[in-house]
Amino acid sequence: MCGIMGYVGREVAWDVVVSGLRRLEYRGYDSAGVVTVSEKGLHLARRVGHLAALQEAFPAGLPGKVGIGHTRWATHGGVTEENCHPHADLRDRIAIVHNGIIDNVEALRAELVAAGAKFRSETDTEVLAELIGRGVDKGLSLRDAVVGAMKRVEGTAGLVAVDKKDAERLVVARIGSPVVIGLGEGGSYVASDALALRPYTDRMVVLDEGEVAEITATGIKTVDLEQRSREKRIEKILHQADDADLGDFPHFMLKEIHEQPAALDRSMRGRLDAVVGSARLGGLQQHEQRLFDIRQVVFFACGTSLYSAQVGAYLMSRYARVPAQAEDAAELAVKNPIVDRHTLYIGISQSGETADTLSALREIKLRGGLVAGITNVVGSSLSRETDLGTYVHAGPEISVCSTKAFTAQVLATELLALRFARTRDLSATDGRAWVAGLEALSGQMRLMLEHAETCKKLALRFADARFTLFVGRGANVPVAAEGALKLKEIAYVPAEGLSGAAMKHGPLALIDHGSPVWALVPPDETRERMLGNLRELKARGAIIMAVAAADDAETKSIVDYVIPLPPHHPAVSPILNAVPLQLYAYHVALAKGYNIDKPRNLAKSVTVM
Ligand code: F6R
Repeated sequence: MCGIMGYVGREVAWDVVVSGLRRLEYRGYDSAGVVTVSEKGLHLARRVGHLAALQEAFPAGLPGKVGIGHTRWATHGGVTEENCHPHADLRDRIAIVHNGIIDNVEALRAELVAAGAKFRSETDTEVLAELIGRGVDKGLSLRDAVVGAMKRVEGTAGLVAVDKKDAERLVVARIGSPVVIGLGEGGSYVASDALALRPYTDRMVVLDEGEVAEITATGIKTVDLEQRSREKRIEKILHQADDADLGDFPHFMLKEIHEQPAALDRSMRGRLDAVVGSARLGGLQQHEQRLFDIRQVVFFACGTSLYSAQVGAYLMSRYARVPAQAEDAAELAVKNPIVDRHTLYIGISQSGETADTLSALREIKLRGGLVAGITNVVGSSLSRETDLGTYVHAGPEISVCSTKAFTAQVLATELLALRFARTRDLSATDGRAWVAGLEALSGQMRLMLEHAETCKKLALRFADARFTLFVGRGANVPVAAEGALKLKEIAYVPAEGLSGAAMKHGPLALIDHGSPVWALVPPDETRERMLGNLRELKARGAIIMAVAAADDAETKSIVDYVIPLPPHHPAVSPILNAVPLQLYAYHVALAKGYNIDKPRNLAKSVTVM
C-alpha cells in the first residue's frame, strides 16, 4: 500500500527521499509526491504515475535538507495530482504525508468548512493537514499541533509533517499505520517500512501506537498523546542476503520462487529436535505450560496467508488431534467472535500489517483471548501486538504476489503442529520421521524447481484458456485455492481452487473439452479418492496437469501431464505442490505481457479495511 519516506540531515533531501520511495515501489501505487523545506519555504512536486514521471517532471529535484515523500494508492478520491500527497494546509505553512484512513473525516471536514476552509482535494489527508495547520497558526509547535490533531482523529494514520518555518525538523505520528525511524550518521530517516531504511542505517526506532516523535538530524524525542515522554529502544535492522535487489532474475516473483529452498532452511534453523522428534519455536517457549491447556486452535488471516492457515488447521487436527480451523480475519473481526480461554488464536500475515488481520487480533485480545502471531516482518504490528509468536524468516518479499512467504508460513504451521502433536498423540518415532521429512524438504523443493521448463511449456499451451481449475484434497485443498489465486492475481485468468470432491456438486459444469485442470495427487490417504475425481474430470474432456509421485503409474495413466513429486513426508506435500503452481502462474502472466510484480489494482500490504 502507500509508502512514506522522510529525511532530515546533511544530504539533499530530494535524493534520499526519492531513493527511499523507490525501495517501497513494490507496495504498489498510482501517484507520487515529495515536499522539501529550504530557507525559501516549502517546495512541492507531485505527479500521477510512477516515480519516474515525478523525476522527469523535476529533473533538478527540489532544494533543502528536510523532505518527505509518498507513493499513493488511491483510497479517498481519484488518481489525480490534486489528490496526491504531500498535502499542505490551506495557507501552505505545513505539509504532511499520510498512510491510513480517517474514519471521521466527514465530520472534521464539515467543521472546517463551516469555519471557512475551502479544500483543494477530495482527500482525508488534506483535512488532517488543515487541522494541524490551524494548530500551528494558533502558536503551537508542529509537534503539539500534530498531537492535538491526532487526538481528534478516528481511524488509522501513520504521518510525517514538516513546517516551512523550521528546516531542521520532521514530526512523525502513529495511530494504526506503521512508521519506523532510522538513526544514521548526520541524518535521520522515517519510513513506512524498514526496507527503505536499509541503505542508510541499521539502527531504527519503531513508533508504537499513539506516539508522536520530533526528529532532527541528530536524534528523536517521543511523546504519547498526553505529551508524556516515552523512552524508545533502538532496534537493529536485519540485513539479509536476499535483499531488495533483483540480481539475475527478470522479476521479483521468479527470484522469490527460487529463494524458497533457502527460505525454508532459514525458517527451520535451530527449530528441529531430531533426537526427541519435535520442534521448538523460540517465541512460544516461555508459554509452553499454557500450550498444554489449549483445547482448540483458531488460525486467522487473509488471502494467501489464509490458505497457509487452512493448511495449518488441517495439519493441526490431522497430526496433533487438536480441533483446529482457519477463519478469514476480515469476517472474524466483525462476527462478534466467541472467545474462549482454552483456545489459541494464531494470526498469520506476511507483512504483519494487514488491517483486517490486526482488527481480528485486537477484537480477540479485547475479549481476553490468547493470540499468537506468525509473520515475516520483524517489528511489524502483528509481532508487537501478539502475546507470543514466531517469525518465518523468508526474507523480504517484494513481489505483490506472495510465494516464498506462503511456503514459509505453511512450514511455521508444520512446526507448530509437530510441537502440539508431540505433547499429545504423536509417538517419538513418528515425530522423528516428521523431523527427517522437514530436514529433507529444501532439497526436495530444489527438485521441484527443476521442473520450471515443463511448467513454462504448460503455461504457453494454456495461456489463452478462458478458465483454469485447480483441485486437491485434504491439506492440498488450500494449495489448489492458492494456485488459483496466483493465476487470478498476476495473469488475470478466472480460476477456482477446490476440493476434488466438490466438483460433482456444481463446478463440474464448467468443464468442457480442453479445459485445463491442475490436480494435486500426492501419495497419501487422499490419493484414491482424488483419482476417482480425476476420472470424472477426464470423462468431461478436461486436460489434466497433475503433481504426483514420480512412480505413480495409475495417475499417469489417467492424466495428460505429470510434474513428479520426490519421495517426501506426507505432511510436507502442500509446500512441494505449491511450486509448480507458482511457476505456471508466473509463465502465463509472462506470456500475456503483464506487470508481474505489480499486478493491476493490487498492493503488497493492505493496511485499510
Ligand atoms: C496474494 C497476496 C495476498 C496477501 C494478503 C494478506 O499473493 O499476497 O492475498 O496474502 O493480502 O497479506 P499479509 O500476509 O501481509 O497479511
